[in-house]
Amino acid sequence: MGAYVEVYDRSMADPEGFWLAAAEDIDWTRKPTMALDDSRAPLYRWFPDGELNTAHNALDRHVESGRGDQTALIYDSPVTDTKASYTYTELREYVATFAGALTSLGVTKGDRVIIYLPMVPEAIVAMLACARIGAVHSVVFGGFAPKELAARVEDAQPKVIVAASCGIEPSRVVEYKPIIDDALAATTHQPDHVVMLQRQAATAAMTDRDVDWHDLVASASPADPVPVAATDPLYILYTSGTTGKPKGVVRDTGGHAVALAWSMRNVYDVAPGDVWWTASDVGWVVGHSYIVYGPLLVGATTVLYEGKPVGTPDAGAFWRVLSEHRAKALFTAPTALRAIKKMDPKATEIAKYDLSAFQTLFMAGERLDPETYHWAHDVLGVPVIDHWWQTETGWPIAANPRGLETLPVKPGSATVPVPGYDVQVLDQQGNQVPAGQEGAIAIKLPLPPGTLPTLWGDDDRYVESYLSRYEGYYLTGDSGYLDSDGYLFVMGRTDDVINVAGHRLSTGSIEAALASHPAVAECAVIGVHDALKGQVPRGFVVLKSGVDVEEDTLRDELVAAVRRDIGPVAAFRDVSVVDALPKTRSGKILRKTMRGMADGRDEPVPSTIEDPGVLDSLRSVLRAER
Ligand code: COA
Ligand code: AMP
Repeated sequence: MGAYVEVYDRSMADPEGFWLAAAEDIDWTRKPTMALDDSRAPLYRWFPDGELNTAHNALDRHVESGRGDQTALIYDSPVTDTKASYTYTELREYVATFAGALTSLGVTKGDRVIIYLPMVPEAIVAMLACARIGAVHSVVFGGFAPKELAARVEDAQPKVIVAASCGIEPSRVVEYKPIIDDALAATTHQPDHVVMLQRQAATAAMTDRDVDWHDLVASASPADPVPVAATDPLYILYTSGTTGKPKGVVRDTGGHAVALAWSMRNVYDVAPGDVWWTASDVGWVVGHSYIVYGPLLVGATTVLYEGKPVGTPDAGAFWRVLSEHRAKALFTAPTALRAIKKMDPKATEIAKYDLSAFQTLFMAGERLDPETYHWAHDVLGVPVIDHWWQTETGWPIAANPRGLETLPVKPGSATVPVPGYDVQVLDQQGNQVPAGQEGAIAIKLPLPPGTLPTLWGDDDRYVESYLSRYEGYYLTGDSGYLDSDGYLFVMGRTDDVINVAGHRLSTGSIEAALASHPAVAECAVIGVHDALKGQVPRGFVVLKSGVDVEEDTLRDELVAAVRRDIGPVAAFRDVSVVDALPKTRSGKILRKTMRGMADGRDEPVPSTIEDPGVLDSLRSVLRAER
């Protein structure tokens, strides 16, 4: 561990010097003279006197340095049978024009814009256009229901929503307009306009506040980049917490640009001109950081893929894209690989494609189980790199730093802490545990640049959710251990967040949807193991006394309620009616015990349990269903 240790130690010994040096790779309109502002600790800010524009750094600077004719973006959409590409010059022109279009609608620096677009180039254009004029974007994933969109509108208070008429799923066309109308019917805040990108698969009926994307762009004049403070927000991305209310993770401007550019080179080994593909969705943090900002900040070519890993048209979809665009690396979630493996266990499709340009497979979003790791490694013959991070951090906390040196892989481990992150495993009392012992994974403050400075409009919730469990530490919500070589093994969440096919969801919000059913007295939702999706939610409901319902009808209604309130992405299908839920004497539902039981593990039963007999009846329900 030569190069890695040297760089990691430097980042710990002199974070100021380390990050000011990294900041040299970014164009500033006012160069920062100071790295860290700790005057409001535990709330930290990076590069407090710096000023820059992210869209300039992602586009204009590359055009100015002679990369104008290089491809910036490749759009590959098997679901619409479309391919397109944009050079840096073309993408800059499109972004500048759409930035002018937003300006013509009255959007100015600091205003929020909600982006509700599927995986089309316009999603990237809209994000960068906001960045160009200093507006704060908040992208909402297409698989969410109106209620989730409404929660984001209410919290972010957008001046404008930029949307498409539909998203395209293999099994159906998802019309966005009714979702937007339903969401806005439920919010007190109303945007001034909805900019609508009409797609052929389903066009939206327009109302007075709706503006057609193409009409708007046709009459717009290009806007120049607006310099903003490094500490100004670039975007808000809502993510699931333990309660039903999503958390608005704030990303700053300067720290984000510095950290992402650093990560592209040092973690992912991507240089200007390389072709890089992240198969995720712009609605998730992986899409923000590594479809959009990271690759463009370093002058690489990014691939935007609208489709699924399998069935578009076959289990060779990913290999076709890698081969056709000569991508150097792919970043995706293990669930996508499991889907391919399920359809083509021997990976016979790979032989049809030339993967000679392909060098690394990066995996994150959920734990890379050793079985999937071995399969991917064997069939692809390239390093398969698991790495671990979260919406909150915006870039990897633990990884195998390919750009510094490739460390030996240990299946099941996300490898080592990334420079900038002081990762520690703590016991209940906040003491570091010995190597090999599992505990809560925490990061010693301050977090490095690019990580969340706060939650949107809610410093208190930020402190309470992340910084108050262990003083001086950020609580990741994951548990795991460090081995004697310093490798980190992330084992799972310690809270009520679950990860379904790489999608982060809150069991609390699924419970809220179940509880809204008139027959339900109380309920619990846990994440249980699923061979394809990693985890799926599973519900247990206790009915109100005297309620007489047909169980199959009730189940359908509960599944529909989750789909209505959270969206199809929750993949909620399993719910059982039980007589009672296992609880402590103080009334706390023993979800961990339930999780263990559903997964067939024997969790120790807490001595505080109110009625151990409840566990027996739960066990027989589960056994009967299995
Ligand atoms: N818009 C609307 N609906 C969406 C959607 C979107 N963007 N994405 C998913 N959905 C819907 C699906 O159509 C499906 O609906 P259905 O119940 O009517 O069939 C439901 O949400 C569940 O979708 P998903 O979990 O994606 O299951 P799937 O069977 O369609 O696909 C995988 C399974 C593994 C192929 C897919 O989940 C996948 O590619 N996952 C990778 C996730 C990822 O990239 N995560 C980011 C972290 S790196
Ligand atoms: P998200 O914020 O959606 O990126 O989800 C972050 C959560 O996903 C983490 O807190 C982990 O629980 C889980 N996660 C992401 N990547 C990994 C990984 N490589 N190994 C284990 N868990 C992961």
